[in-house]
Amino acid sequence: MTKPVSIFRNVPLAPPDPIFHLTANYKADPFPDKIDLGIGAYRDEAGKPWILPVVQKAEALVVGDPQLDHEYLPILGLKAFRDASVRVILGADSPAVAEGRAVGAQSISGTGALRIGAEFLRRFRDAATTVYISNPTWGNHRAIFEDAGFAVQTYPYWDAAARGLDIDGLLAALRAAPQQSIIVLHACAHNPTGVDPTAAQWRQIAEVCRERAHFPFFDCAYQGFASGSLDRDAAAVRAFVADGFELFVAQSYSKNFGLYGERVGCLTVVAHEPAVAQHIESQLAKITRAMISNPPSHGARIVSRVITDAGLMAQWQRELETMAGRIRAMRQALFTHLQQLGTPGTWQHIVDQIGMFSYTGLSPAQCQTLIDQHHVYLSSNGRISMAGLNEGNVERFARAVDQVVRQS
Ligand SMILES: Cc1ncc(COP(=O)(O)O)c(C=O)c1O
Repeated sequence: MTKPVSIFRNVPLAPPDPIFHLTANYKADPFPDKIDLGIGAYRDEAGKPWILPVVQKAEALVVGDPQLDHEYLPILGLKAFRDASVRVILGADSPAVAEGRAVGAQSISGTGALRIGAEFLRRFRDAATTVYISNPTWGNHRAIFEDAGFAVQTYPYWDAAARGLDIDGLLAALRAAPQQSIIVLHACAHNPTGVDPTAAQWRQIAEVCRERAHFPFFDCAYQGFASGSLDRDAAAVRAFVADGFELFVAQSYSKNFGLYGERVGCLTVVAHEPAVAQHIESQLAKITRAMISNPPSHGARIVSRVITDAGLMAQWQRELETMAGRIRAMRQALFTHLQQLGTPGTWQHIVDQIGMFSYTGLSPAQCQTLIDQHHVYLSSNGRISMAGLNEGNVERFARAVDQVVRQS
C-alpha cells in the first residue's frame, strides 16, 4: 500500500518561542552553577519559585469551602473577582467606578485580556485602525494584535545611547500616527526595558493621545510588583481615567500573585457612560463565549478571596513589597559588583530601571557568549530577569559580564 499523503504536508515548521526555548536550554544544561535570567518569573533568595503565604492562606480557604463545586463560572467569570479587580486597578474611590461606567471581564490572565480586548476593537473600530506598540516591547504584543487582524506599527521607546526613554521619539510617533489609533502602553515596569515615563512624561503622552483622539490600551502585568505599591504602579492608568479617557486595561495576576500557571486576569473597561460600558461588557461576553466559553475558576477564586478582604489585602501588599524589595536589592548588588570590577561602560541604568527586568545594553553576541561560555541564560536583546539573581549568584554574574564586555 502506498503511504498516505498528509493534507498538512505543506505546513512549515514554526520557529520556537525564543523565551520558552531559552528556558528549555537552561533546563537541559547540566552545569551546576548555571544562571537563568530568561523567563520573567519571580524567584526567591534560594532561586526557587515563591508561593506567596497569602496565596497559601486564600487557597486553603477556597479548598476548605463546603460550598465549593466545579460548576462552570459565568461567561464573564466570577462577579466578585471582576468587581474587585476593577477597584484594584482604578482605585476604590475611582469616579469611574462610582458612576458605574467601569466594568471588568475575567480573562485567561494578561494575555487573554489583551486578546479579547483586541478582538472587541477589531469588531467595533474601523478596519483600517492601526495598533501602535512600543519598540522594543514584550514579545507577544505584535502577535496578539496581528492575530486579531490589526496592522501593527511601533513607536520608539528605548534610547540606546542614553539608556533611557526616548520621550521625544515616542511623542513624535504618536503625533504622526493616524487619528484614533490604538496605543498599547505598559502601565508600569515596561517589559523589556524597565524604564517607565515620569508623571510629567505621562501627561505629555496623554496630551498627544487626546489631540489625536487615540485609544489607550494599557497592559498592566506588574501592578504592585514594580514599586511595591499597588497605587503607585496604577498611577498612569488612574491619571488617564481622571483625564476623562475611555480606555482598556489588561490586568495580569501572574507576577503579583505568583499565579503564573493559573491564568488569572481581567480586562477592565472604562467608558464615558454606564450604558456604553454595559454594551461593551455584553460584547465581551459574546467574544469570550466563542473563544473559551468561560474562564477557569481556581486562580480567580484565590485572588478574589484576597482582594475582597481587607486583612488579606494588607498581607498581599506586604508580600508585594518583599518581592519588589528583593529585586531592588539585586539591582544594587549587581551595580556595586560591576563598579568594583571597574567593568567598562556605564551601569547606572541597572539601578534606575524598575520591575522584573533590566535592559543591560549587552549586544546579541555578548549575550550568546554569556550562554555558551558562562552558562548564563538571557534573551538575545540583553534583557535580564532580575528575579533570577540572588546573593549566591550575583557576583558570578557580574564577573561573567565583566569578562564578556572586556573581550568584545
Ligand atoms: C508586558 C507583559 N504583558 C503581558 C504579559 C502576560 O502575562 P500573563 O498572560 O501571564 O498574564 C506579560 C508577561 O510576561 C508581560 O510582560
